[in-house]
Amino acid sequence: MADVTKIYVPRDMAALAMGADDVAAKIETVAEKSGAAIEIVRNGSRGLLWLEPMVEVETGEGRIAYGPVAASDVESLFASDFLKGGAHKLRLGKPEEIPWLAKQQRLTFARCGIIDPFSLDDYRAYGGMAGLDKALTLDAPGIVDEVKASGLRGRGGAGFPAWIKWDTVRKAEADRKYVVCNADEGDSGTFADRMLMEGDPFTLIEGMTIAGLATGATKGYIYLRSEYPQAFEALNRALVVARRRGVLGASVMNSGKPFDIEVRLGAGAYICGEETSLLESLEGKRGVVRAKPPIPALKGLFGKPTLVNNVMSFAAIPWILSHGGKAYADYGMGRSLGTLPIQLAGNVKRGGLIELAFGISLREVIEEFGGGTWSGRPVRAAQVGGPLGAYFPDKLFDTPLDYEAFAAKKGLLGHGGIVVFDDTVDLAKQARFAFEFCAAESCGKCTPCRIGATRGVETMDRVISGVQPEKNLGLVRDLCEIMTDGSLCAMGGLTPVPVMSAIDNFPEDFNTRARPSVAIAAE
Ligand SMILES: Cc1cc2nc3c(=O)[nH]c(=O)nc-3n(C[C@H](O)[C@H](O)[C@H](O)COP(=O)(O)O)c2cc1C
Ligand code: SF4
Repeated sequence: MADVTKIYVPRDMAALAMGADDVAAKIETVAEKSGAAIEIVRNGSRGLLWLEPMVEVETGEGRIAYGPVAASDVESLFASDFLKGGAHKLRLGKPEEIPWLAKQQRLTFARCGIIDPFSLDDYRAYGGMAGLDKALTLDAPGIVDEVKASGLRGRGGAGFPAWIKWDTVRKAEADRKYVVCNADEGDSGTFADRMLMEGDPFTLIEGMTIAGLATGATKGYIYLRSEYPQAFEALNRALVVARRRGVLGASVMNSGKPFDIEVRLGAGAYICGEETSLLESLEGKRGVVRAKPPIPALKGLFGKPTLVNNVMSFAAIPWILSHGGKAYADYGMGRSLGTLPIQLAGNVKRGGLIELAFGISLREVIEEFGGGTWSGRPVRAAQVGGPLGAYFPDKLFDTPLDYEAFAAKKGLLGHGGIVVFDDTVDLAKQARFAFEFCAAESCGKCTPCRIGATRGVETMDRVISGVQPEKNLGLVRDLCEIMTDGSLCAMGGLTPVPVMSAIDNFPEDFNTRARPSVAIAAE
């Protein structure tokens, strides 16, 4: 029998959106017609999103990538002998040598886009399970010590030291404890959680299982946003394999310690990403924020001690355990240690997933990785950290990606999403949008957020249409102060960040509309 050539066609949602299923089907058809023996593996994405679908062929010299491939390219690829890595205008060479990828430091994403997401053997062959194997040789405080040594801070947005939560849940006395993974990923321009869940779900499962061993929790939930059907399917498929292979269940890897995981779908509300609101939703109630204390680590899901972490936080754990917390802490700067999976999106030429040690500047990410804007116009602004993050102008682009450096510039890193804008952006409209977003997504529990966001939209409308702009801008500033100081959670508390950054960093967008005569008549 002829040798079977493996062809990798991503099933990641971004690749699917660009026609990956059609490409896979066409490859099957042409291979059959030409009598070529092939096996198609549906892998995840490597995160070079402008090249999706990026198809890889396993050759004698390693994998050779082609992209972006359309179904209409497949005949010509076969004609160019692509099964042997032949020359073609879409040939990219060895994927790991593409500079965009070669410059990265992939720890959490080491396997994503490389392995078959549902093959535990493939996962092991690329270093998977070594973290869990190590964790099983340690006691619970020993595992937490490694997390502490790593300096890992929550990747969901707040950057809270992971080990403190882990230790609090570990020490809490209760008949039942839970591990909850926050996979609500609602921030604008973010997709790292999704990519990992679709392309390397065992890493999340392994990380959560280690968390179960460390805290004494026996049950884990993944709270997944309903807009991620592909991830839902991938997680459930991987969970079946993990149970069948004894990773999950009554005795994790024959350790005698039970742990299992279930996936629950959210209903599409941004506020359900806030951890207490998430817990309400997970309990089957409306997603309304709970007042703290008590903190979820002591009284969380169904009133029991609960560890809530983001997908990226859990997914960092297997590497930390297998290489040691200190090795992880060797990456990064200051108190931002390890790597950050940066998601570059918006009006940018080369968007995608960039995993790097903390400390790279925003400019390097936008210019060197991003290659400038997709529109070809000058970059004018970047919003970092989701809808509650600041708009930075060029003069702040040299800020390193580091929690403290961003805070010092009145910004935040959040979940590592960067959305790029060209010079056609109107920052006054973006400030209005921040209020509008908050008004739509507020859970309604506290007045500064519920009422303030709506008043913010109305007041920004007056500013934009030139109705007493100075006076109304003053009102916006007052409103921001009240929302910052008086909101119960970060939804209302941080909405002023994009608003004030737009006003302070781009004042020209707020001054040009001054039309005092219109203002007086309209008031
Ligand atoms: C409005 C709002 C939305 C949030 N959305 C998310 C989210 O989508 N994913 C996430 O992991 N954390 C989100 N968070 C942060 C969580 O409340 C919480 O800090 C996080 O899940 C803790 O995990 P970590 O310590 O691993 O970051 C959100 C917070 C707020 C206030
Ligand atoms: S700040 Fe907004 S989202 Fe948060 S509790 Fe108050 S009303 Fe709810």
